[in-house]
Amino acid sequence: MTLRRSQIVGCGSYLPARVVTNDEMAKIVDTSDEWITARTGIKRRHIAADGEKTSDLAMHASTDALMDAGVAVGELDMIVLATATPDETFPATATLVQAQLGMTRGFAFDVQAVCSGFVYAMAVADNFLRVGQADTALVIGAETFSRILDWSDRSTCVLFGDGAGAVVLKSAEGNGTAEDRGILSTRLHADGRKHDMLYVDGGPSSTQTTGHLRMFGKEVFRHAVTNLSSVVDETLEDVGLTASELDWMVPHQANRRILEATAKKLKLSPERVIVTIQDHANTSAASVPLALDQATSDGRIKRGDLVLMEAMGGGFTWGACLARW
Ligand code: UT7
Repeated sequence: MTLRRSQIVGCGSYLPARVVTNDEMAKIVDTSDEWITARTGIKRRHIAADGEKTSDLAMHASTDALMDAGVAVGELDMIVLATATPDETFPATATLVQAQLGMTRGFAFDVQAVCSGFVYAMAVADNFLRVGQADTALVIGAETFSRILDWSDRSTCVLFGDGAGAVVLKSAEGNGTAEDRGILSTRLHADGRKHDMLYVDGGPSSTQTTGHLRMFGKEVFRHAVTNLSSVVDETLEDVGLTASELDWMVPHQANRRILEATAKKLKLSPERVIVTIQDHANTSAASVPLALDQATSDGRIKRGDLVLMEAMGGGFTWGACLARW
């Protein structure tokens, strides 16, 4: 049986130049390198320069991904950009990127699922490609979380960083088996009853302010491992595979302890997990494509590898995307 598949043909990423270490954070709030490292695995994060916007980060990552893919802007049919920190309330940051790239056809829109945003965006793009409504897609995760942090709240401001990552998807014919190259399965979930666990206390229709990130970290942590391991199992079951067959897990980078506990629950060796949290902190929708770009650039993820991306974030939202590289 022939089936349209979305092949991942290129990756790119961008991190702002400014690096802020844990010791520097300790000068801003009552914290320490010891606490941050032990509780999260984070050592440093990148912070966007004054005036550097989410669309700027997204542009750098996108040109990098298009170059890696050998795909010209004119070939793109669609852009899906995952962000919770858009340049403006509207229009979508994706349309700013579209204009800056010089793309004058096709369509572009944002997806908002906070830290799960990239996995949501991949699922959306994959579905457009599968039904034949597009052949080539640019999928971006880009965030400037530094703009929505409460820099006096030590329980949140030490956890996040800025960055962007992007991939190019191209439709190709597969034969419907788990040996096909491309996205094999995507699964998404949301539970809006958990809104108050992780949210921003502002917005155009509520307070007419941008607001700041608020999180009950312990509650998020409590749900993360269960939700993530079950959605990973769902994507694997979709194609009759098991976690033992995974070459790589590329998780959302929120907390090293969550990554390790999820891998343990799936009986996956820690060497199979791509970890970037020490250098990037939590970059929300950018964390998975940033990690993907690192692991493809350094040669860990190779053609034919079975790669699992997963994420959980505000909403709650969570999801996974299984792909053969
Ligand atoms: O990406 C979206 C999804 N987000 C997540 O997945 C985040 C999930 N949650 C977490 O990663 C963890 O819950 C945190 C890293 C946020 C917190 O770790 P924790 O082990 O759950 O710590 P806690 O919140 O229970 O705080 C323990 C103690 C508290 O002090 P007391 O009450 O025990 O005296 C906090 O006040 O640590 C204190 N604390 C800090 N101390 C130094 C909280 N933040 C800091 C800090 N530096 N930055």
